[in-house]
Amino acid sequence: MSSKSVIRSQQQHKVFIASSDDTKICVVMVGLPARGKSLIAGKAMRYLGWVGIPARVFNVGGYRRFNTPQPEATFFDPHNEEGERMRRAAAEAAMSDMIQWFNTGKGVVAILDATNSTKERRNWIYEKCHEADIEALFVESICDDEDLIMTNIKEVKTTSPDYKGQDPEVAALDFRNRIRNYEKVYETIDDNEKHYTYVKLINVGSTVIINQIKDYLSSRLVYYIQNLHIKPRSIWLSRHGESEFNLTGRIGGDSNISERGEAYARALPELLRKSGVPDNTKIVIWTSTLRRTIQTARHLKSETGYEKLEWKALDELDSGVCDGLTYEQIAEKYPEDFAARDEDKYNYRYRGGESYRDVVIRLEPIIMELERSENVIIVTHQAVLRCIYAYFMNVPQEQSPWMEVPLHTLIKLTPRAYGTEEQRFKADIPAVSTWRGKGTSAKHQDFPAEKGTETKH
Ligand SMILES: *[C@@H]1O[C@H](CO)[C@@H](O)[C@H](O)[C@H]1NC(C)=O
Ligand SMILES: *[C@@H]1O[C@H](CO)[C@@H](O)[C@H](O)[C@H]1NC(C)=O
Ligand SMILES: *[C@@H]1O[C@H](CO)[C@@H](O)[C@H](O)[C@H]1NC(C)=O
Repeated sequence: MSSKSVIRSQQQHKVFIASSDDTKICVVMVGLPARGKSLIAGKAMRYLGWVGIPARVFNVGGYRRFNTPQPEATFFDPHNEEGERMRRAAAEAAMSDMIQWFNTGKGVVAILDATNSTKERRNWIYEKCHEADIEALFVESICDDEDLIMTNIKEVKTTSPDYKGQDPEVAALDFRNRIRNYEKVYETIDDNEKHYTYVKLINVGSTVIINQIKDYLSSRLVYYIQNLHIKPRSIWLSRHGESEFNLTGRIGGDSNISERGEAYARALPELLRKSGVPDNTKIVIWTSTLRRTIQTARHLKSETGYEKLEWKALDELDSGVCDGLTYEQIAEKYPEDFAARDEDKYNYRYRGGESYRDVVIRLEPIIMELERSENVIIVTHQAVLRCIYAYFMNVPQEQSPWMEVPLHTLIKLTPRAYGTEEQRFKADIPAVSTWRGKGTSAKHQDFPAEKGTETKH
């Protein structure tokens, strides 16, 4: 982990009398192109959705693109009046849609993703927000590390809609010219703007300057953003190997893994290797504190010598009074609960236990730590894995508790500038299927393991 210095100036913690329902925040991305602004905006968006805060990105480039799908670099020259007029119109359209969205009463955080960041434009945004009772939070990404910029340009030139179907080399050159035009007018946030709430990220979070954060939600957002990095890495997810409880269809408990579970534990180091681990890559192993995950990671730990951490927060969803029962027994003993859980599985809380929503809340520090970390393999439980997976793959809340995450399968997630790439690697070891579809009676059956397959989504 690189060391980080965090400078906090004039931080005020005002106590808000108004209920948090009134909070309206506009996160304004500031910075030259290829500084990772869209990446930060996209991630913040995903994070907010995952914790259940209504958020939306308003991308000024998107509005501009609508009228000028494939502009040339000269379009971005500040002396090009027609270009300037259209950029201004795009900014106004984005702003007015944003205010309208807040006015519906459903919005809490808007992310305004635009490139132009002169003082004048910032002041305009600040005033507009102020009038509409929206708090503006400026997030400036500053980067003078040429390698980081070039990596970013490469991502952009191959994935941006502006350059669809163009020669990558020509596109890269055009893009560098475009950046030069912005550099002519670029103004960093400075001391005359101390009345704004802002965070400055220098070289993707190696230094962070925070000014005037006023409320809890903003400080949570800033904490999240300052933990982000863009070094290439992967995250591997696996459920524990089949447990003794899975054989009899019982949930919860702290049982040992079965013989087949042990076979999976033995196969895991090779499965990980096959999934593609770059040379000289260190991976940290995370497990829960329950036997079945520790046992599943045992050989992985002893064969690779990787560092291992056990997290209480990764323990399985607590099924309260249902702990140790089968789904049939739950349906019989607690029929209303069983039906209620099917009705709204995300919010349903087991008597004396937890809901998926509860699990997401306790996983928040795990997500923060994951964002700070590089390569990690997490061996955990079905419900917890669904929640972590939902965060990375942007799965909606009502859908995530129903996702099928088979036993004896390694999932590899690789974050990219515009989304997360997923690969699955199945171990050729049979296990019971513990997946139960919505509205079905308890399902519990053997399924034949498929040949070591890999699927890309
Ligand atoms: C940015 O905004 C300022 C002020 O609104 C304008 O004068 C300038 O031309 C714009 N530049 C770019 C590159 O969009
Ligand atoms: C598999 O067994 C564990 C207990 O060892 C249990 O917590 C988990 O819920 C089981 N999986 C399912 C979905 O039945
Ligand atoms: C798990 O295995 C250990 C050692 O083999 C044994 O002592 C223990 O009783 C087992 N636990 C359960 C819950 O079956």
